[in-house]
Amino acid sequence: MATFTLPKNSTIRKDGKKHKAEGAKRVKSFKVYRYDPDSGKNPSYDTFEIDLDECGPMVLDALFKIKNEIDPTLTFRRSCREGICGSCSMNLNGKNGLACTTAIEDLKGEIRITPLPHMDVIKDLVPDFTHFYAQYASIRPWLQTVSPTPSGKERLQTPEQREKLDGLYECILCACCSTSCPSYWWNSDKFLGPAILLQAYRWLADSRDEMTGERLNELEDPFRLYRCHTIMNCANVCPKGLSPAKAIAETKKMMAERAI
Ligand code: SF4
Ligand code: SF4
Ligand code: FES
Repeated sequence: MATFTLPKNSTIRKDGKKHKAEGAKRVKSFKVYRYDPDSGKNPSYDTFEIDLDECGPMVLDALFKIKNEIDPTLTFRRSCREGICGSCSMNLNGKNGLACTTAIEDLKGEIRITPLPHMDVIKDLVPDFTHFYAQYASIRPWLQTVSPTPSGKERLQTPEQREKLDGLYECILCACCSTSCPSYWWNSDKFLGPAILLQAYRWLADSRDEMTGERLNELEDPFRLYRCHTIMNCANVCPKGLSPAKAIAETKKMMAERAI
């Protein structure tokens, strides 16, 4: 029988820590998900008040301030701090996004920060991407050819052919889309999810790739591609403004066209 409550080891403890910003004039409160597998304890929320006059403008700045000045055990991923690497993806007030490109002032009230939903948590805000990366590897995300390179040189594209990759190559694999997709929540073992399907289409759309038939064969499956029900959460949440749903629709169109 289906269970609609959290497993016992996932329920939130009520005894999270609270840190006050004494003497601050512009205070913002951050409620941050904490989980340390080594403690043997269930997760909790710690609340940190931050003096905005002493903090940078982005959510990632606040996380750094907490880590550097209040609690060095706070764990999160980040690298580029400018929306390029995709590593600081997390859930901010209920919506997935990048901590480094989300301004604190754009989030109303207390800011609740949790890891990306429906992924196992390694520690605090760090989800386990192992399965996501395995799915990415499964689509063979590189140029595949059978013909020899023309005159031993580059494989050229016309400007029009190159343009077909716009809206696809910009994906930073942050997984904001996949982890906001209800179909992916329930079927992530078999459904590839919007991020990986957008990447799959990136190679289907590439005029230089010569494995189109094989790539479509790999996706022709009731779950891998067709579990997308066009709910559109993926397009609404992508921090790069991409539309995985459109890429999925284009892939389905290619499937239909080759069946005719
Ligand atoms: S499509 Fe957008 S949300 Fe999805 S992984 Fe790529 S950049 Fe992130
Ligand atoms: S459009 Fe498809 S992939 Fe995107 S959120 Fe909806 S079901 Fe998921
Ligand atoms: S730190 Fe690289 S995308 Fe946020």
